[in-house]
Amino acid sequence: MRVLIVYAGRTGTCAKAARLLQEAFGSGASLRDLRTEKAFPERYDAVVAGSAVRSGQIEPAVRSWLMKNEKALRGKKCGIFICNAFMEESASILRNNFPKAFLEECVAVESFGGEIHMEELGFSDRMKLMSQMKRRRRIAGDSSLIPCLLPDTIRDFAAQMQAEED
Ligand SMILES: Cc1cc2nc3c(=O)[nH]c(=O)nc-3n(C[C@H](O)[C@H](O)[C@H](O)COP(=O)(O)O)c2cc1C
Repeated sequence: MRVLIVYAGRTGTCAKAARLLQEAFGSGASLRDLRTEKAFPERYDAVVAGSAVRSGQIEPAVRSWLMKNEKALRGKKCGIFICNAFMEESASILRNNFPKAFLEECVAVESFGGEIHMEELGFSDRMKLMSQMKRRRRIAGDSSLIPCLLPDTIRDFAAQMQAEED
């Protein structure tokens, strides 16, 4: 199965998740960073699109790539993943960012978790993130938020895409 993985993120987590997914596919899935590379789904049997999340939104590069390639993706085996830090929001982020019909057609839809790289963030992003974390702590009383990527989820995702092969 020829697999294309397209992704976009800002501070490296989504890229790392995409590489782990590529490894999990085991047989040379192609990786494309949509912020710097072009990607053409036509030559592939399966397509996975992954995006980092900021303020509840996926990366514009992923959104526009999916819209641009809507026709080419129709009838193809597709998967979606997001990289985000606040896991309790994953379901609503997915619901709000992708058309319902597309999500239902996807073979696999997951959050792969996320990481926070404060040192990579500019001042305004750092402030935005801090205020989001503070707000969540007030709501959930959670003072031990240490987000991380979820390697088991990534492996299961690849297995799910491959299991549906016939
Ligand atoms: C400014 C900012 C806003 C964020 N907003 C959200 C959010 O709304 N929901 C969430 O679950 N995670 C949020 N995150 C966490 C990121 O999704 C997480 O750090 C992710 O791993 C980033 O991926 P990247 O390194 O590929 O950019 C935010 C992070 C930043 C810096």
